[in-house]
Amino acid sequence: MNETNKVAIVTGASRGIGAAIASRLAADGFTVVVNYAGHVAEAERLVAKIEAAGGRAIPAQADVSDGAAVARMFDAAQAAFGGVDVIVNNAGIMKLASIADTQDALFDSHVAINLKGSFNMLREAAKRLREGGRIINLSSSVVGLYQPNYAVYAATKAGVEAMTHVLSKELRGRNITVNAVAPGPTATALFLDGKPQAVIDQLAKLSPLERLGQPEDIASAVAFLAGPDGAWINGQVLRANGGVI
Ligand SMILES: NC(=O)c1ccc[n+]([C@@H]2O[C@H](COP(=O)([O-])OP(=O)(O)OC[C@H]3O[C@@H](n4cnc5c(N)ncnc54)[C@H](OP(=O)(O)O)[C@@H]3O)[C@@H](O)[C@H]2O)c1
Repeated sequence: MNETNKVAIVTGASRGIGAAIASRLAADGFTVVVNYAGHVAEAERLVAKIEAAGGRAIPAQADVSDGAAVARMFDAAQAAFGGVDVIVNNAGIMKLASIADTQDALFDSHVAINLKGSFNMLREAAKRLREGGRIINLSSSVVGLYQPNYAVYAATKAGVEAMTHVLSKELRGRNITVNAVAPGPTATALFLDGKPQAVIDQLAKLSPLERLGQPEDIASAVAFLAGPDGAWINGQVLRANGGVI
């Protein structure tokens, strides 16, 4: 472990990619705020695991679509640890439907969580992040692939990429970088749930490396951007997808 004295908030860290990112940043020496929406037991288990390995973490319930709840989470992180240096906007949902079949509720929930949730975090971070901070947004490689049934999800992630580029310029002079990581198919509940094995196998073959991404693959890309080696990367989208282009 390399003690950094830096504090990172990872949204949606109870499960999947977010849990791998929180574990990796804790192993790299960050104090980690493990945000979750509903799965408190998973979040608490992860915090206990990080602490057992010698790291520092706290759980923090907040629905990222609720701006007041996001502000309270920053307040809690600042009260507990003195400030925030890194945010990873990982919380997200994905439900697939053709545009013709998309119900208002599906559209509204994606905009609320994926787009407004990321915005709520970015707004607080823009006001509060300490000098030298890092902002990492989770996009998706479906931005650019334009597959059927991904319109609403991809549209929210395209919005996240747009905010990434704009905020990287707005934070001029504060030595804060803003980047996005865009995973391809990654073995988590979000990707696997509801898909027949044949479809999973077919999507796993999209990469010339012929496998699905693992949450740890994505955590490695995020750790690079959050750590000292990522200092000169700013305003970029890193498509971490094993070559799905
Ligand atoms: N898996 C993939 O193939 C893939 C590919 C490209 C991009 N991504 C992106 O990567 C990110 C993580 O995806 P994943 O596959 O790890 O998903 P996942 O396994 O479904 O986990 C989603 C996480 O987001 C949290 N969350 C959901 N709604 C929330 C809200 N309103 N407020 C706070 N937290 C909320 C969940 O918390 P609870 O446990 O409390 O519900 C959970 O921790 C997402 O942004 C996703 O779009 C994933």
